Amino acid sequence: MDIETIREKAKNDIRDANDAQACEVVRVRYLGRKDGELTNILKSLKDMSLEEKRKFGVGANELKIELNELIENKLKELSTKKERHLDVTKPGKKVALGHLHPLTHIDKQIRDIFSSINFTIVDGPELEDEYHNFDALNIPADHPARDMWDTFWIKQKTKEDGNKHIGKFLMRTHTSPMQIRYMETHKPPFQILVPGRTFRYEATDASHEINFYQVEGLMVGPDVTLANFKFVIETFFKKFFGKELEFRYRPSYFPFVEPGVELDIRLPGGKWLEVMGAGMVHRNVFDAVKYERREVQGFAFGMGLDRLAMIKYGIPDIRLFYSGDARFTEQF
Ligand code: PHE
Repeated sequence: MDIETIREKAKNDIRDANDAQACEVVRVRYLGRKDGELTNILKSLKDMSLEEKRKFGVGANELKIELNELIENKLKELSTKKERHLDVTKPGKKVALGHLHPLTHIDKQIRDIFSSINFTIVDGPELEDEYHNFDALNIPADHPARDMWDTFWIKQKTKEDGNKHIGKFLMRTHTSPMQIRYMETHKPPFQILVPGRTFRYEATDASHEINFYQVEGLMVGPDVTLANFKFVIETFFKKFFGKELEFRYRPSYFPFVEPGVELDIRLPGGKWLEVMGAGMVHRNVFDAVKYERREVQGFAFGMGLDRLAMIKYGIPDIRLFYSGDARFTEQF
């Protein structure tokens, strides 16, 4: 048999060998000391004429080296394949996932519930001007109620320094300025929800932070009443806590609503908890956005997202939300 035929056959055999044992069979078949096909040729070299020796000798020896190499490589390939072998019955490795912040969870739940009852979610600026945060909400500069909102004022140039802006800038103390911004650019009827970050210049303790989150609600139309507010907000809280709740409405004061109320809830077996301020939009607010006060009416409410999260998850201290401590977030 000639060298070329042996080479072709051996290469095919090596390619088809699919484990170490099969490789060994191939090796013995061609290179086995006793009766290997190539070995036999090499053995017969000694009986050949010098000319034949020249003809066969070099090629046969080269093939021997080549086949040894091919088998070696094949064995390596087979053994790495074995390492990569996938055992589908093995229990899976858990992929470590990050955690959403509890306020993110609460924010999402609130958006989902209000979206499901047809509220539009809108966003507003954190840097506000005095007009939208206060004046248009019926809180003029000399109004004692301004003390309800300890304010971070933004340092800015005075008029004398060439500042053309009429009002002062501040970090919004509540999400209510978005009532004004939305009404300035939209016509009723509508119902909106405005989640957002708010700021107050006060001492921090377990229930006060200088920055926190609020959710504002506003519904305006030709005949929106407090009864609509009750229905909307009770529907929301029942869905949010997934439990039957008791509600208590107390009269309260906010310059931009009349009448104003505060809402308390009680979870089964629990204490009464104050959860939000609300009321019917004040006519001065409608004046500020140039709505015809006899043609529209509506309700507004504002609640603290942090507080709701604390109630829902039993978190004792508002400062934990902003601690950046992973041991806290990991629990949600
Ligand atoms: N903006 C009020 C607050 O921050 C809450 C509120 C909103 C009250 C809307 C009434 C109506 O305290």
